[in-house]
Amino acid sequence: MDLFELARTELLRSHESQRHPFLYFSLATFGHYPEARTVVNRKVSRELDILFFTDSRSHKVSQIRENPRVTALFYHPKKKLQVRVRGVANFIDKGDKGYYQLLERIKKAGNAKDYTTLQAPGSTVEEESDIAFGNEIYFLAIRIKPDDIDVLQLGKEQHNRRCYTLKKGQWEEAVLTP
Ligand SMILES: Cc1cc2nc3c(=O)[nH]c(=O)nc-3n(C[C@H](O)[C@H](O)[C@H](O)COP(=O)(O)O)c2cc1C
Repeated sequence: MDLFELARTELLRSHESQRHPFLYFSLATFGHYPEARTVVNRKVSRELDILFFTDSRSHKVSQIRENPRVTALFYHPKKKLQVRVRGVANFIDKGDKGYYQLLERIKKAGNAKDYTTLQAPGSTVEEESDIAFGNEIYFLAIRIKPDDIDVLQLGKEQHNRRCYTLKKGQWEEAVLTP
């Protein structure tokens, strides 16, 4: 299997098991520093769009508003496979197609509370007990549309690295030095 098919297969099967390493990824955005954090991968489409959920008041959201270019970094330890998806993040907000279905999904899963703190995520509080919850749900879904995918697999004999760039709907391959 070539590296593109390997990366694509693992991304598409990431929801088959709760233990798949691609269920989480590191999301990097532009901020005062390069800003990276772990998020849950909620869905990968056939086109390799990646969906995740967040609080609309979080720093990553203002960073994406300033500059929507992001990187999603995945690592599969057993396969020694690193997949770096660089792309553009799009908000799925109130009024956008699909928003209310996604909101229902988190409500049904009992996760809506995560998006209801009175203070915005990252705010400083005096004590843990000052963190309070309200009725407003600051839920936002974000879809990353890939521009290119850098795939590296470490092997015993040799390491392999390819970059796949989306051009006019086709993934063009470049062989890279690992
Ligand atoms: C295992 C794990 C999963 C997480 N999943 C999410 C997530 O899906 N969405 C999210 O916004 N934050 C998630 N977080 C919290 C983020 O890593 C981060 O701390 C938070 O979103 C604030 O980031 P920001 O200030 O850069 O926006 C997760 C953290 C951990 C440890």
